[in-house]
Parts: sequence; C-alpha cells; structure tokens
Amino acid sequence: MRTSSVLVTGASGEIGHGLITRLAEDGRSIVTIDVTPLAPALGRLVRREFTGSITDTGLLERILAEFEIDLVFHLAALLSTRAEFTPTSAHEVNVEGTLNLLEFSHHEGESHGRPVVFLYPSSIAAYGLPNLETKMRAKRVREDEWNIPITMYGCNKLYCEHLGRYYACHYKQLAADTTAGRVDFRCVRFPGLISAVTVPSGGTSDYAPEMIHAAARGKAYACFVRPDTRIPLMVMPDAIEALLRLASVPRDRLTKTAYNLTAFSPTAEEICDVVTRAFPRASVTWETDLKRQRIVDSWPAEVDDTAARRDWGFAPRYDFARAFDEYLIPTIRERYSS
Ligand code: SER
Repeated sequence: MRTSSVLVTGASGEIGHGLITRLAEDGRSIVTIDVTPLAPALGRLVRREFTGSITDTGLLERILAEFEIDLVFHLAALLSTRAEFTPTSAHEVNVEGTLNLLEFSHHEGESHGRPVVFLYPSSIAAYGLPNLETKMRAKRVREDEWNIPITMYGCNKLYCEHLGRYYACHYKQLAADTTAGRVDFRCVRFPGLISAVTVPSGGTSDYAPEMIHAAARGKAYACFVRPDTRIPLMVMPDAIEALLRLASVPRDRLTKTAYNLTAFSPTAEEICDVVTRAFPRASVTWETDLKRQRIVDSWPAEVDDTAARRDWGFAPRYDFARAFDEYLIPTIRERYSS
C-alpha cells in the first residue's frame, strides 16, 4: 500500500535542511533525493532517502513505483558561480533534471488522479540588468521586467519557469485527450538566502552569508563584491515559510507562474557594519572579483513582491534588523559556541 509522501530533491542543501525539519514537525512522510547523503539528524526525519541524481530517470521510476507523491519541492540545482565553470553540467542538472521531475510529477498525477503540487525555487538570477546605471535606476523590479539573465543558472531558472507553466497549462496540447494540469506548478523567485545553520556553496550571493559566518567564527573575510553592492536578501525561516505557504494556498488564488519575494536589500557595507558590531573580532576586507561583481550587478537591487503579498498573503517575518537581532546573531553564536 503506497502512502502519500512529499518528495524533496536537493535535500542536503541549504533550503532542504530547514524544510525537512518543518515538514517532519508537521508529521509529513518525506522522501528525499540528493547526490550527497543527508546528515544523520536529518536522515532520521525522512521515510526514505535516495542518494543519487535527478538526472537518473531509473531512480525516479523506482520512486514512482514505490511511493505516492502528491507534493514536490524541487530544490536540486547547481548555483550561479558554479554553473559558470561547468555550464553544460549545470544545464544537465538544472534543466534536464527539472524536466525529469516534471515528467515524473505528471506521471504521479496521472497514476493517483490528483494534480501533484510542484514547488520550484527560481531566483533573482532570472533577471539581467545590462549595467549598474540601469540597476540603480530600475528600483523595484516586477516579475515581467528585465528577464534577460546573463548567467547559465539564470537562463536555466527562467526557462524552467516556462517549462513548469507548460506542464501545468499546455502539456501535449494537440493530443486527442489533453492531459495538462496533472502538475500544479508554483514558483517563487528567491532573493539571496541567508541561513544561520548552513553556509552555501557555489552561489554569487554567497558574500552575505560567508561574511556573517566568518565573522561569527572570528575569521578574516575578503568580500568579493564592492561595499555599495545591493541585492534583495531573505533569511531561511522566511524562505521556508514562503514555500510552505505557497504550497498550501488554493490554486485559484494564484495569478502568476513565478512570484518575486524579498525581505530587505542592504548594501554589503551595511551587512559588514552590523556583523562587525555583533562580532568585534571580525575583520572584513574588500577584494572585488570583477567577474562575480558583474553578475551581482546584473541582479536587481530591489524586487516588487506585491503579487505574492496580494495573491497568497506572504509577508516576511524578518526585516534587516530582526533578521540579525532575532535570528542570525543568536543562532550563529550558538552554532559556533560548541
Ligand atoms: N543564491 C543564488 C546564487 O547566488 C541566486 O539564486 O546563485
């Protein structure tokens, strides 16, 4: 007898970590896929852990045969910096992997007769502003503006938003029996995310979390972007809350395929100021990597999250001050004190 479960891909990653904890608290049966085994404490929370790749369709077929999946959090991806070094592998994981998961979800939906809710984290990397001057003038960028990404990762994310929309609305539209709608695709465009418990790898917004974690450990940090660099950011508890809320909202409330999310947009220098006040042993120097800077400069300084607030009532709990005072500083202190 197959029990209804939630599938989390990229489960060992930063978002997976907190999401699995929350899903387990809600008593959900969780199935995971990741190329890296789960930390033992997380592994104990899941019903079944598959160590493998989303590019392995055989693995997905085994899961399809064994589990009834009604909700997918497809988190697996190669982030923006890493993807620039290996663009074809990025395409394989980020695009072909997502296509595999959409096909998988379509077949799941077909087999149990209900749409599979498919949560997809897209990114501010889906935007591409041509230069800093345009970025400074652009203000709060809406979902349909500046969709001209300059990174492989951004191109992958933007395309997969369209793939998801295709599966949800237009799948095999010329077939005699049209079968669109088996996948209920829902997508957020996350800003840079900061977790107090994990450090990211391979992203270009990583300067913010790297600076905070280095400071807490009393380590010197050479920041790879200019002090005046500004992008939208959000702390991990709000990101997880957003995914869970979007997963549970009635479909007819949703008017968009992809929703901007944001919480605060400090400059790198403003982050440095807060962090060095909290951790006086911290030392930050500025060693701009011009190539990574260009990527961050192509991302908006602020995004317009009106649609998410209006359609599914999302508002982040943590603004800049609360994020540091109530989440990052106390949690990180505790993490490195043992
Ligand atoms: N955090 C991601 C990155 O830097 C952006 O979504 O690649």
